[in-house]
Amino acid sequence: MMTLSALQFFVFGALAIGCLQGAHARKWRNTGGTIILEEAWTTPDLVNQLGNTSAALGGTNAELKANLLDIHNQRLRFMDENNVDYMVLSCASPCIQGISDPAQAEDMAVTVNNILADSISNNTMRFGAFAALSMHNATNAALELKRTVQELGFLGGLVNDYQQSGPDNATLLYYDQTEYDVFWQMVSDLDVPIYFHPRGNIPQIKSPSIGHAPWLAGPAQEYAATLSNHILGLCTNGVFDRFPKAKIIVGHLGERIPSDLFRIDEQLKRQLPLGMPMKLNVTSYWQTNIWETTSGNFATDLLQFHIETIGLDRIMYSVDYPFVAIDEGEAWVQTLPNVLSKRQLETLTRGVAIQVLGLDR
Ligand SMILES: *[C@@H]1O[C@H](CO)[C@@H](O)[C@H](O)[C@H]1NC(C)=O
Ligand SMILES: *[C@@H]1O[C@H](CO)[C@@H](O)[C@H](O)[C@H]1NC(C)=O
Ligand SMILES: *[C@@H]1O[C@H](CO)[C@@H](O)[C@H](O)[C@H]1NC(C)=O
Ligand SMILES: *[C@@H]1O[C@H](CO)[C@@H](O)[C@H](O)[C@H]1NC(C)=O
Ligand SMILES: *[C@@H]1O[C@H](CO)[C@@H](O)[C@H](O)[C@H]1NC(C)=O
Repeated sequence: MMTLSALQFFVFGALAIGCLQGAHARKWRNTGGTIILEEAWTTPDLVNQLGNTSAALGGTNAELKANLLDIHNQRLRFMDENNVDYMVLSCASPCIQGISDPAQAEDMAVTVNNILADSISNNTMRFGAFAALSMHNATNAALELKRTVQELGFLGGLVNDYQQSGPDNATLLYYDQTEYDVFWQMVSDLDVPIYFHPRGNIPQIKSPSIGHAPWLAGPAQEYAATLSNHILGLCTNGVFDRFPKAKIIVGHLGERIPSDLFRIDEQLKRQLPLGMPMKLNVTSYWQTNIWETTSGNFATDLLQFHIETIGLDRIMYSVDYPFVAIDEGEAWVQTLPNVLSKRQLETLTRGVAIQVLGLDR
C-alpha cells in the first residue's frame, strides 16, 4: 500500500508536471477564423535582399518592404478585416539561405529569431513563428531549431530552398544528403514541421536557365521548378525512410508535384535497380511526411483534384502575405462553401494546421 507521504509525493509530483505543461500550453485567438502559415516578414538588415524585382512580387517596392517590416499595424488590420485568427511569421526569402558565409549566416539566424520572438511577444494570441535556420552546418541548424522551439516557443522552422555557400556563392547545399541526418533527427525528436519555401536562384543558375525569358523569374515558374527538385531529392534520397516521423510543409499547392504523381512514381520505379535509396514511392510520402498549403494558389478546381489525390487532411489554407493580399485569400475562402461542406472548410482553413503546428498541445 502507498504510504501517505508517497501518495502526497505522487499527487504533488503529478500536479507539478501538470502545471509545467499548463505553463507551456499555447494560447491563441480561437474564434473559428482561419490560420495562415506562409506569411513573410523581415528585418531592416535583410529587407534589401529583395532588390528591385519586387514589382513582380506584388505592389510597389516601397509598399512591399513596408509590409514585410510591419507586424502590428496594417498586417494585423488585414487579419482582423479578413477573419484570420492566427498567423505564423517567417523570414522572407532568401533570408539566411542567401548568406554564403557560415559564421555570418549562423549569427544572422540567431539575430533574426530573437528579433522575431521579441517582436511578437506582446501578441502571441495572434502571431506565431517559424525559425530561420543557417543550413551550412546540420548540427548547428539542429541546435538552433531546438533553441527556438524550446526557449522561444517557435512552431517549427522554415528554409528557403537550398543554402548557398562558398566564395562565389555557387556551392549549393541540399538537405537531402546524409550529412543532414542529425538535423532530421532533431526535427523528428521535437515533432515540429519544416516549411520548404522557394528562393530565387543564384545568378550563375538564373542566367543560363531563364535568361532567355526573364519573366519566368520568381513565383510564375522559377520557384516551383527549383524547389520541387529539392523536395523530390528528400524523397528519392530516402530521408523519409530514415526519418518516418519527419514533417515537411510545401506551399503553393505542393509546388506542382501532386499533379504529376502518376508519372513521377512510374518513372522513378525504373531507378530502383540503379541504386536509388528511396524505399517507398513519392505518393506515399504525401500520406505520411508531407503537407501542403494553398499559399498564393487559390484555384478551386485544383484544390478539388488535390483533395481527391492526396486528401484534405494534408492541405492547409495559407495566403503568402504580403506577396499575395490577405483579402484575396479570404474572398476565395468565401466561395468555397460552393464545393466544400462546412466541416471540410474548417479542416482546410484551420483543422489540419492546429494538428500540424501542435497549437492544441
Ligand atoms: C532600385 O530602384 C531604385 C528606384 O528606381 C533605384 O534608385 C536603385 O538604384 C535601384 N537599386 C538597384 C540595386 O538596382
Ligand atoms: C505590441 O508592441 C507593438 C510595438 O510597440 C505595438 O505597436 C503593438 O500595439 C503592441 N501590441 C499589443 C497587443 O500590445
Ligand atoms: C559543425 O559545427 C560543429 C560545432 O557545433 C563542429 O563540431 C562540426 O565540426 C561542424 N561540422 C562541419 C561539417 O563543419
Ligand atoms: C556573393 O554574394 C555576396 C553577397 O551577396 C556578393 O557581395 C558577391 O559579389 C557574390 N559573389 C559572386 C561571385 O557573385
Ligand atoms: C506507392 O506505394 C504505396 C504504398 O507502398 C502503394 O500502395 C502504391 O500502390 C504505390 N503506388 C505506385 C503508383 O507505385
